[in-house]
Amino acid sequence: MAELQEVQITEEKPLLPGQMPEAAKTHSVETPYGSVTFTVYGTPKPKRPAILTYHDVGLNYKTCFQSLFQFGDMQEIIQNFVRVHVDAPGMEEGAPVFPSGYQYPSLDQLADMIPCILQYLNFSTIIGVGVGAGAYVLSRYALTHPDTVEGLVLINIDPNAKGWMDWAAHKLTGLTSSAPEMILGHLFSQEELSGNSELVQKYRNIVVHAPNLENIELYWNSYNNRRDLNLERRGDITLRCPVLLVVGDQAPHEDAVVECNSKLDPTQTSFLKIQLLGLQGPAWEQVG
Ligand code: BEZ
Repeated sequence: MAELQEVQITEEKPLLPGQMPEAAKTHSVETPYGSVTFTVYGTPKPKRPAILTYHDVGLNYKTCFQSLFQFGDMQEIIQNFVRVHVDAPGMEEGAPVFPSGYQYPSLDQLADMIPCILQYLNFSTIIGVGVGAGAYVLSRYALTHPDTVEGLVLINIDPNAKGWMDWAAHKLTGLTSSAPEMILGHLFSQEELSGNSELVQKYRNIVVHAPNLENIELYWNSYNNRRDLNLERRGDITLRCPVLLVVGDQAPHEDAVVECNSKLDPTQTSFLKIQLLGLQGPAWEQVG
């Protein structure tokens, strides 16, 4: 994998016992596609990119990234970067349910909201970390704004639009399964769901009892109606920054991530298959 641009990292003192972690600040900005909320942790470091995260369907930035960013081995990395955690519209904690008939942004439009966030914060470059639908959004952003993306970590990405067969299967599944069940089937494999571990139970509870379930369904619909990213290894449409593709060995998206790997520049891309349950929340504590 090509190296990320070198950055000068000065050692920062670890937190002392009882010392509070840095405060988070939540902001909202208006964009041509509605308002978007994001939470900033840490202080900007001169000439260093911000880490910008985008979460998957059924989750928000906390339920998707908290355990990763609070994972012991991550501390040394994150202390050296300001982090911007985007909540897709209507997914932020306490978000009101959108009125019926509300036109939820497409994934491409969600990507088009990112420049408004960076402009508001006066940040020029990012390292994107995305899961599932969030990984797609960040890839789309990187395709349209390649000069502002220094690296991408894409977890469980599916860069392909749904084909007719997928579309028909999705419609048929919708006749017999609820939206939360379909979303859980996106977050976990069937094996993981049948195992019904504490982690699966926790996320089932989060999705089934979400007060903004109608909003979640809108993000889910946008995900299912995504366009193909049309990545081509030697073509014009490709990711130009270093990319780390990550997939859980039981994740439902393994084939899609493998195919994505085959469409990216091998000198710029690393592929990491990790053995853990799902790729959300406390699952990160199993890595190490
Ligand atoms: C962070 O330190 O960036 C972080 C903290 C809590 C939740 C998500 C991220």
